Amino acid sequence: MITSKMQSAMNEQIKHETFSAYLYFAMVAYFHSQNLDGMAQWMKAQAQEELDHAQRFFNHINERGGRIELQPLDKPQAEWASPIAAFKAALQHEKFITGRINDLANLADEENDRASGIMLQWFVTEQVEEEDSVSRIISMLERIGDSGHGILMADRELGRRVAEA
Ligand code: FEO
Repeated sequence: MITSKMQSAMNEQIKHETFSAYLYFAMVAYFHSQNLDGMAQWMKAQAQEELDHAQRFFNHINERGGRIELQPLDKPQAEWASPIAAFKAALQHEKFITGRINDLANLADEENDRASGIMLQWFVTEQVEEEDSVSRIISMLERIGDSGHGILMADRELGRRVAEA
């Protein structure tokens, strides 16, 4: 049985993961508005993975005999100054999520909740990958700068991504 402290912390995390999807769908819409359909495709795959992350917490609470309590979501930002500004905002958001995952892992230790600790290990690894992949895109866009040709090449490259979930 999940403890009430872990249940409410994971219910809160369902909100953060779902909001991640919401924010990234807002970026999908922004990239489409800029005719950057490849970047939109990359971010759509990212948003879909975030829904899978929310589902993992949902399932874990359920399987441990807990109760799901969905929280209200904030309205996400809709516009960014440039594609690189959107990816930088995504990285900043991922760093926030990493902090939340670390807090949950610490809580699992405090509560001696081994099942949650094991489940959260997947997320610890996932966050390393997520921060790394967004950081690489930012570096690529920084190298490209204002080159229209470079942006088109990057857009084509990023459009190859499909959701892993
Ligand atoms: Fe589910 Fe991108 O953190």
